[in-house]
Order: sequence, then structure tokens, then C-alpha cells
Amino acid sequence: MPFPFKTLLPLSWCAVVCAVTLPAAAQDAARLHQQADAAMCANCHGTEGRTVKGSAVPSIAGLPRDYMVAQMKAFKDGSRPATVMHQITKGLTDAQVASMADYFAAQKR
Ligand code: HEC
Repeated sequence: MPFPFKTLLPLSWCAVVCAVTLPAAAQDAARLHQQADAAMCANCHGTEGRTVKGSAVPSIAGLPRDYMVAQMKAFKDGSRPATVMHQITKGLTDAQVASMADYFAAQKR
């Protein structure tokens, strides 16, 4: 029996193309999740984390990533008193906290 090139060709094509495109699709999904989460924060912290001058809500754009992770954990466990952030952080997983810190640290101050 001859080697079934015709049947195997799409498979080898996928081995190359899928290997390249699937991680990209997963990255897109992760980025969309990150933007959706960040949109929750925009109500109070402003678009991309910048509030207007004199606002009672602090700007978070461009704050150091590790500082933000530490503050959000402190809000969550109650060690940093808060008016609203203790509630907000209760709804976030550690992965979401890390993702939000990455996102806002990357925004211009
Ligand atoms: C309902 C309004 C509101 C929302 C929504 C909100 N925040 Fe806040 N955030 C505040 C306020 C007010 C403070 C000051 C602390 C407090 O009183 O809760 C604050 C403080 C912070 C701080 C500490 C800043 C500093 O300078 O120490 C971080 C970090 C932060 N928020 C991140 C976030 C992230 C990330 C989200 C979205 C998941 C978010 N916040 C959503 C109102 C909000």
C-alpha cells in the first residue's frame, strides 16, 4: 500500500500551523480577560488607571507591580483598612490580582 500522503498532509500542515497559531489564540484570550477585569477598575480608577487630579480615588497607572500586588493582598486580608477595596479584592483570585498589577503597572503614570 502506498504511503497515504494525501491523508497525512493536512495533519503535518496542522502540526506546523496549529503550533504557531494556538499559543497566539490563547494569548489573545488571556489579554481579553485582562482587559475585561481592568474595565471593572475603570469606574473608580479611571480609564487605564488614571484618575483626575484631586480625586479621592488614587491613580494606579504605572504603580510598581509588586507594590500593587502587596496592597491588594493587604486589602483582601484586612491588614490595610479600606473603604471599598477590601470588598473588590475579595472577588479577585490571586491570578486576577497578579494580572491587574501587570496591566496597571504597564500603563503610563
Ligand atoms: C468602587 C470604586 C473602586 C473600584 C471599582 C476599584 N477601586 Fe481600587 N481603590 C478605590 C479606593 C477608594 C481606594 C483607596 C482605598 C480604599 O479606601 O478602599 C483604592 C485603592 C486601590 C489601590 C491602592 C493604591 C495605592 O496607592 O496604594 C490599588 C492597587 C487598587 N485600588 C487597585 C484596584 C484594581 C486593580 C481594581 C479593579 C479590579 C480596583 N482597584 C477597583 C476604589 C475602587
